[in-house]
Amino acid sequence: MQITVFALILFHSWALPLCFAVVYNNFSDLPPKIYDFVIVGGGTAGNVVANRLTENPKTSVLVLEAGGTNIDAFQLDVPFFSDIFKFQYDWNFTTTVQPGLNNRSTFLLRGFVLGGSSSVNGMFYTRGSADDYDRWAKVTKDDGWSWDNLQPFIAKNEKWEPPADRHNTMGQFNPSVHSLTGVNAVSLSGFSQSIDPMIFKAVDELGGIFNFNEDYNSGNPLGFGWLQSTISTEGRRSSSATSYLAPKYIKRKNLDVLLHARASRVLPSVSKSSSSGYAFHTVEFAQDLDGPLLQVNASKEVILSAGVIGSPHILLNSGIGDSDELSKIGIKSLVDLPSVGKNLTDQPVVANEFLVNSNRTTDDILRNATLLNKVYTEFNKTGMGPLVVTGGNQISFFRANESLTDKFGDPSSGRNSPHLEMFTGNGFFGIPPSTGHFLTLGTAVVSPASRGFLTINTTDPFANPLINPGYLTSPFDIAAMREGIRIMFQYLSAPVWDGYVLSQFGDFANITATSPDDVLDEYIRNSAGSSAHPVGTAAMSANDADYGVVDPDLRVKRVEGLRVIDSSVFPFVTSAHTQAPTYVIAERAAALVRAAWV
Ligand SMILES: Cc1cc2nc3c(=O)[nH]c(=O)nc-3n(C[C@H](O)[C@H](O)[C@H](O)COP(=O)(O)OP(=O)(O)OC[C@H]3O[C@@H](n4cnc5c(N)ncnc54)[C@H](O)[C@@H]3O)c2cc1C
Ligand SMILES: *[C@@H]1O[C@H](CO)[C@@H](O)[C@H](O)[C@H]1NC(C)=O
Ligand SMILES: *[C@@H]1O[C@H](CO)[C@@H](O)[C@H](O)[C@H]1NC(C)=O
Ligand SMILES: *[C@@H]1O[C@H](CO)[C@@H](O)[C@H](O)[C@H]1NC(C)=O
Ligand SMILES: *[C@@H]1O[C@H](CO)[C@@H](O)[C@H](O)[C@H]1NC(C)=O
Ligand SMILES: *[C@@H]1O[C@H](CO)[C@@H](O)[C@H](O)[C@H]1NC(C)=O
Ligand SMILES: *[C@@H]1O[C@H](CO)[C@@H](O)[C@H](O)[C@H]1NC(C)=O
Ligand SMILES: *[C@@H]1O[C@H](CO)[C@@H](O)[C@H](O)[C@H]1NC(C)=O
Ligand SMILES: *[C@@H]1O[C@H](CO)[C@@H](O)[C@H](O)[C@H]1NC(C)=O
Ligand SMILES: *[C@@H]1O[C@H](CO)[C@@H](O)[C@H](O)[C@H]1NC(C)=O
Ligand SMILES: *[C@@H]1O[C@H](CO)[C@@H](O)[C@H](O)[C@H]1NC(C)=O
Ligand SMILES: *[C@@H]1O[C@H](CO)[C@@H](O)[C@H](O)[C@H]1NC(C)=O
Repeated sequence: MQITVFALILFHSWALPLCFAVVYNNFSDLPPKIYDFVIVGGGTAGNVVANRLTENPKTSVLVLEAGGTNIDAFQLDVPFFSDIFKFQYDWNFTTTVQPGLNNRSTFLLRGFVLGGSSSVNGMFYTRGSADDYDRWAKVTKDDGWSWDNLQPFIAKNEKWEPPADRHNTMGQFNPSVHSLTGVNAVSLSGFSQSIDPMIFKAVDELGGIFNFNEDYNSGNPLGFGWLQSTISTEGRRSSSATSYLAPKYIKRKNLDVLLHARASRVLPSVSKSSSSGYAFHTVEFAQDLDGPLLQVNASKEVILSAGVIGSPHILLNSGIGDSDELSKIGIKSLVDLPSVGKNLTDQPVVANEFLVNSNRTTDDILRNATLLNKVYTEFNKTGMGPLVVTGGNQISFFRANESLTDKFGDPSSGRNSPHLEMFTGNGFFGIPPSTGHFLTLGTAVVSPASRGFLTINTTDPFANPLINPGYLTSPFDIAAMREGIRIMFQYLSAPVWDGYVLSQFGDFANITATSPDDVLDEYIRNSAGSSAHPVGTAAMSANDADYGVVDPDLRVKRVEGLRVIDSSVFPFVTSAHTQAPTYVIAERAAALVRAAWV
């Protein structure tokens, strides 16, 4: 039975009254054909690749997605709910015990639903710095990954739209660095927060310590700017599922999507042209983890887009990884690629909470059912109101003091690349406590020096891998986070905050800018967590490099028929949130795949 899902879109008279997507829930319903490409993972990157490859009506694609449909998960479309419902559509991974977090383990969120992490993320649209991409080009010896050369792919992805409230956006962004013709909606905030004027007044008052940046997506992100998000004019989340698999694309006859299909391994066949002697054209998967293992073949390529955890996990299950480590746990090593799972990099974040003298924050929405119903009704009817945003409208990026980079070396990609980010929230980050009104100033180390790894300790392909991001294990990272918090206090010393900020909350209660290093460190290690930006577990490297997992065209080294296209291929994390770079990688990679098979 072919499942047709109907979704009523209620809130805009000009929106299509009815939209439908055709996807399969059961493998036995699929047509008995050999697909040209099988894409494992219908997430952020996978759906881009599926869309672009099937622009050619002669190319057939099957997407295997472990999670379910996004269509009946309406709450995922509501930007303000992004921090609340994400656990329901998550892989439920936790990290190993983290020495840098005082031996805590922490959540590592990953979307488990069509659209992957783009269906559950915070929707921040940040490209990072020009230097970030130029470093990718340098380490891969492929100029195609440079900032300048990636511009067409940024443009293919981004569809700049007016904000939900249609406010005058003059001076809040630079139109010349945005595209109106891409697929994913990107917009400025569609709901103004009471603190918006104060945020920028503080920047002015501090005269020169901080600067206003009209558009942090220009290649130079340093300074304070207005947040841009993957949210549409209708006030809804734009994920890879709502955009790249929109009804007009998913109805293509040459594109099939199978949900609840969890890949375990890729299976080898003999190849005369690869140095390992293996090609991988078969995907093994299960629809029911206790049920039978199924197989599907790709005549041209298998593309792993299962994300920074899923893709290296599948490679390791398949015997592609460090041969000694695999042999020790009883997995037959087929291809010795020791970099699989290594160099895992994530950005640690601390959400610093202040109690404020105002009731015009977002906190009451989540504790007052009458208010929630009121704003939810407004959202449903008009696509406007406080639910069209996540709760903060600004972001800032800055560099650490040179004394730090002099001492520890500079992990950033260049002088215009930030080490630190501070984001603002007009309320508590996540579900608020039962009383109080909050200001959140979150600090993150966006150019971390720490590296971790992902590995497996069992032959059961469906057991969770061991995930060790190594948070705050490098001395640079803890020192940078300390400095980020001190800079945050400097920012709050602007007169505009007098009388607004009352006190500090929780573990943060007694922290000050002059707290000794060890007191700050204790606070940081007890409260830092994942920013949900892990990358790098199947990194690209130059063709002649003695490390790395994929070549600059994202083909798995030493084998035939297999690529990885997702956030695991970042050779270094961008100094930014990671969805925009992932979309850009996927757009360019799709063009590379198409070029290889003309
Ligand atoms: C809660 C959260 C908040 C975030 N906030 C932001 C933000 O505000 N801004 C930003 O830029 N970035 C943000 N990110 C990060 C960003 O969303 C990710 O870096 C990016 O989406 C990763 O894309 P991907 O294609 O590599 O992986 P994903 O989008 O995670 O896609 C992987 C897909 O593969 C599927 N899969 C995995 N294993 C298998 C398997 N074995 N078989 C079949 N399918 C499989 C998964 O279910 C998933 O659909 C956030 C992430 C999360 C989780
Ligand atoms: C898929 O279809 C087959 C054949 O109709 C059936 O036996 C099986 O139970 C179905 N699986 C699921 C998960 O519905
Ligand atoms: C994670 O837990 C949620 C329940 O909170 C569940 O719905 C989801 O299926 C779980 N994810 C996986 C991959 O099992
Ligand atoms: C963390 O665990 C290690 C190993 O058990 C131990 O040596 C160390 O003291 C612990 N650190 C803290 C802060 O408890
Ligand atoms: C897939 O390919 C393998 C060999 O590469 C072959 O043995 C197998 O029969 C094929 N399976 C299908 C379903 O075509
Ligand atoms: C990790 O990345 C660095 C480059 O940043 C590289 O030199 C090193 O070889 C990588 N390690 C592995 C195991 O791939
Ligand atoms: C919010 O605060 C204002 C003034 O500070 C006060 O007049 C108003 O009654 C308060 N509203 C609520 C709902 O508490
Ligand atoms: C809850 O919100 C409603 C609607 O805005 C408001 O009238 C009411 O006073 C609020 N209740 C509380 C306890 O603040
Ligand atoms: C808004 O619409 C969604 C989807 O139709 C529905 O589930 C929800 O109950 C609605 N909320 C209100 C307050 O009407
Ligand atoms: C950088 O650090 C040095 C040494 O600690 C200090 O003297 C200087 O004021 C700092 N610069 C800034 C801009 O904070
Ligand atoms: C693998 O690691 C997990 C998580 O630490 C643990 O629960 C499990 O017992 C380990 N399995 C083996 C076979 O060592
Ligand atoms: C902050 O200091 C006060 C007064 O010394 C103390 O009672 C409280 O426990 C401290 N709070 C935290 C989170 O350390």
